[in-house]
Amino acid sequence: MSTSHAHDSSAADAAPALDIDRIRADFPVLARSVHGKPLVYLDNANTSQKPLAVIEATDHFYRTSNANVARAVHALGAEATDAYEATRDKLARFVNAPSRDEIIFTSGTTQATNLVAYSFALPRLVPGDTILVTQMEHHANIVPWQLVCARAGAKLKVAPISQSGELLVDRFVELLTADVKLACVTHVSNVLGTINPIARLARECRRRGIPLLVDGSQAAPHLPIDVRALGCDFYALTGHKMFGPTGTGMLWARREHLEAMPPFFGGGEMIREVRFEGTTFADPPHKFEAGTPNVAGFVGLGAAIDYMDSVGLAAMAAREKALLEHANTALRSVPGLRVIGEAADKVAVISFLIDGVHAHDLATLLDLEGIAVRSGHHCAHPLMQFYGVAATLRASLAFYNTHDEIDALVAAIGRVRKLLA
Ligand SMILES: Cc1ncc(COP(=O)(O)O)c(C=O)c1O
Repeated sequence: MSTSHAHDSSAADAAPALDIDRIRADFPVLARSVHGKPLVYLDNANTSQKPLAVIEATDHFYRTSNANVARAVHALGAEATDAYEATRDKLARFVNAPSRDEIIFTSGTTQATNLVAYSFALPRLVPGDTILVTQMEHHANIVPWQLVCARAGAKLKVAPISQSGELLVDRFVELLTADVKLACVTHVSNVLGTINPIARLARECRRRGIPLLVDGSQAAPHLPIDVRALGCDFYALTGHKMFGPTGTGMLWARREHLEAMPPFFGGGEMIREVRFEGTTFADPPHKFEAGTPNVAGFVGLGAAIDYMDSVGLAAMAAREKALLEHANTALRSVPGLRVIGEAADKVAVISFLIDGVHAHDLATLLDLEGIAVRSGHHCAHPLMQFYGVAATLRASLAFYNTHDEIDALVAAIGRVRKLLA
């Protein structure tokens, strides 16, 4: 894997090798069998597996400290609030946010982009305005913008990509005209693995006074994230792809935006005072966090960040880089296999097609061999339309995968092809 930060690649190269047996022992599910075969889990971009540290942190929370947060003065209420709020500090450090108060807990990236759509974009849009996205976005970074554009009489504009799956940066910059009220770009493509040059895009957006939202869902498990260095306005991520529990995620936003944005969800915990004549709201981040959150989930997300820290992002990156190189070579040895997405700067996510074989058929037969890959449109219809395909197969790797698992995938593809022929 290579990264968008020059220093990261060299750090990754210099990182000590991981003790992979010990790492795999941290993930109980990796030891199971599927259809009588050892599980080969290559669907990490869909959701990652969870280490014992995360499983135990959520279990421990429910066993010892379960209470609602920010409400009760009793001991359990205080412990729950401390454990939950500690994750805000960890996330702030994880993305190098200037302040913990700029971290809004969400259920994932989808809730984060919708929050920005309704609370930031919609009040600013007038007929004739546009929101700029790219051809490689996930539906979570397309549909919320379409919904608010439809309400406001605004339109989406789409920055094109090359056949190799790289954003055409010059075209993106040309499209940054005065009608653009927000630009929305994924940090890493969930289908292609492409790493977008966010710092450069952010500079161009800022020069023109256009806010930039970055979908970091697929970056968070692979790259160090530094929102200050990136220079964007909003950064969204989802916990379940970075070894944390489902139903957890984050929106980071510049303080000035959070102060200007009205609340989107109303209810308990987001208020200062409620009167029937009118309600005043809490300061960010609580203004955007109505209702009882996924407390145990966020405790688990904190444990996931600690776990990633303990393994070391550089060591994870170095291992993924080696896995990607091996997978590239091994998969390309398969006759008739075409890789979709050949960006120079990419993470260990490989989409591919095989002549004469339907992606779903292949994925179904691979499952019988214990191999979990994803087939389908990957919530990226417009990207599939660009490549003129209905579906791809996707092998997405995590640092706990092995060369042997990649070889098992390639061998199983060979067997399955013979069967289908
Ligand atoms: C690039 C990208 N953006 C957004 C999402 C949505 O994440 P979530 O469903 O956790 O909100 C995903 C998940 O597949 C993704 O890969």
